[in-house]
Amino acid sequence: MTAILEVKEIITSYGQSQVLHGISLVVGQGEVVSLLGRNGVGKTTTFRSIMGLTPPRSGSILLKGTELVGRKPYEIAKLGVGYVPDDRRIFADLTAEENLEMARRLAKKRVGPWTIEKVYKLFPVLEGLRASKGSCLSGGEQKMLAIGRALMKNPDLLLLDEPIEGLAPLVVKNLVEVIQEIQRSEVTILLADQNIKFCRKVAGRGYILERGLIQCQGEMESIWQNEEIVKKYLAV
Ligand SMILES: Nc1ncnc2c1ncn2[C@@H]1O[C@H](COP(=O)(O)OP(=O)(O)OP(=O)(O)O)[C@@H](O)[C@H]1O
Ligand SMILES: [Mg+2]
Repeated sequence: MTAILEVKEIITSYGQSQVLHGISLVVGQGEVVSLLGRNGVGKTTTFRSIMGLTPPRSGSILLKGTELVGRKPYEIAKLGVGYVPDDRRIFADLTAEENLEMARRLAKKRVGPWTIEKVYKLFPVLEGLRASKGSCLSGGEQKMLAIGRALMKNPDLLLLDEPIEGLAPLVVKNLVEVIQEIQRSEVTILLADQNIKFCRKVAGRGYILERGLIQCQGEMESIWQNEEIVKKYLAV
């Protein structure tokens, strides 16, 4: 396995309150890896640490061997990390297509397979909504648009924070296929979620987070079959 991302012993705090107490994880090129754990265990903080939004106080984060700690979020994005936050953050006053176009312009130097046409192929519903303002889209549509925006920057590594939260079951089923399609385009994915049933459909390996520490890691199937661990750390 060639590592694309190596997180080593990161410690991250918000002011005086330490949230990550030494997290280490590795994501291999082309993998889909899940970061599992209940509310408030530190999943989003791990992503914010990787993106440089809440930089770790100590530890190291390597992207293809390049140190990310100490770099600004825009530099980290430029190096090839895409981030879809759980609160989506699309532009409400811009149309769906303007949102995608803006993402493309911001990342004009990065090349890759993702274009507006490809994003519409991935999410056909967005094509019908291309002229609709972001604020007029449903929660699920906004999630699709947020993923589309991240793909327009042609990332090597995509961080997806709680992609299925609040989605209808049919939309979730579609998202499983979407993630598989993104993986086929050679984008590596690190996915944070609480729902192991969803994660085992898309991820090969997983890490379980609890109180700012990795408690367990392994193949998704062996995590799934370990009833004790599922009961202790996860929501089903
Ligand atoms: N901006 C902040 N300032 C202070 N504490 C924060 C901040 N953001 C998160 N925390 C705290 O850090 C801890 C980890 O939060 P985090 O959002 O990383 O968890 P999470 O695993 O993503 O949870 P969720 O499932 O709710 O998204 C929680 O105790 C939370 O209250
Ligand atoms: Mg979170």
